[in-house]
Amino acid sequence: MGIDNDMRRYFFGPDGTTIPNAIRLINDLGTRYTHLEHDIRDRDALAKVFARYRDNIALVIHAAGQPSHDWAGREPLTDFDVNAVGTLNVLERTRSHCPDAAFIFTSTNKVYGDRPNQLPLVEMETRWEIELGHEYQAGITESMPIDSCLHSIFGVGKVAADIAVQEYGRYFGLNTATFRCGTLTGPAHAAAELHGFLAYLMRCAMEHRTYRIFGYGGKQVRDAIHSHDLVAAFEAFFRAPRQGEIYNMGGGRHSHTSLMEAVALAEKITGEQMATEYHDANRVGDHVWWVGSTAKFASHYPDWTYTYDVETILAEMYETNRQTWISR
Ligand SMILES: NC(=O)c1ccc[n+]([C@@H]2O[C@H](COP(=O)([O-])OP(=O)(O)OC[C@H]3O[C@@H](n4cnc5c(N)ncnc54)[C@H](O)[C@@H]3O)[C@@H](O)[C@H]2O)c1
Repeated sequence: MGIDNDMRRYFFGPDGTTIPNAIRLINDLGTRYTHLEHDIRDRDALAKVFARYRDNIALVIHAAGQPSHDWAGREPLTDFDVNAVGTLNVLERTRSHCPDAAFIFTSTNKVYGDRPNQLPLVEMETRWEIELGHEYQAGITESMPIDSCLHSIFGVGKVAADIAVQEYGRYFGLNTATFRCGTLTGPAHAAAELHGFLAYLMRCAMEHRTYRIFGYGGKQVRDAIHSHDLVAAFEAFFRAPRQGEIYNMGGGRHSHTSLMEAVALAEKITGEQMATEYHDANRVGDHVWWVGSTAKFASHYPDWTYTYDVETILAEMYETNRQTWISR
């Protein structure tokens, strides 16, 4: 069952709608999939759904949310209601109706605010890189503090949700995990400028749109994980759940890129030069360098592995979206 009210269209405009994905699921899965257009802010609607299925709910993957840093500042109340209160609503319905279910929350590395920007970084030809020998050289771990740094309005709601998920594990004993994710993406990512940078970059390359780069010389680094590898991690947790866990989750050292490097990869895949436009001002609170460590998750779930890296992710986006994006 999927609950999604297509609020993404409200956040990001027509490019951002997720209705085609819902239609694809309905067509592919037939009677095995039920789509509900409820708003997670609507407690009564959620209560009815959870009360109907009760203990038949074995797993809750809570991925509904407002995902953009930049958008959050436009409507702080909406952002907090969806991201923080909406999360509490889903947690509370899980506790009341299916307390044995595994509960997975797609949190974000933005809970660390801009603290990663305090790391000693070295400017290289195509990217920023952490100083050699630093304790986070293999990736930033969950030990990074979340206090005393700039979170932006987005981070406020996300931290609240992240802590709520942990507490429903620690305080109420639910099987919860908060996955603090880097860039999550895949061929079906509904690409929009404000969210989903790799998909939007590939789309710009294919539709000959100008891709705008904001600050840091275009050398900011992100790790990126394919939805397939993320879902494999979720499945591992579902099969052997724990309580109140925190995991940094993303491409890690296996799959990471700077914006400049991603542009070069997109050009290699499309065989065409990309149009880019550089703006000096960076996005507020944007990370200069984020490569997360998945070592903790891998130590709890040693059978989990990656199947994609940035180049294979981009190549697949290209192949999957050729018909729709190039023909425009
Ligand atoms: N994609 C990333 O790179 C990334 C990275 C870190 C964390 N995350 C987090 O993971 C989650 C999912 O990310 P995504 O990239 O799939 O985002 P997305 O915008 O593609 O998906 C979120 C979905 O939630 C739905 N939604 C929004 N508000 C809703 C509401 N009130 N009720 C019901 N449905 C609602 C939207 O319509 C959308 O389909 C978000 O919370 C995001 O912050 C994403």
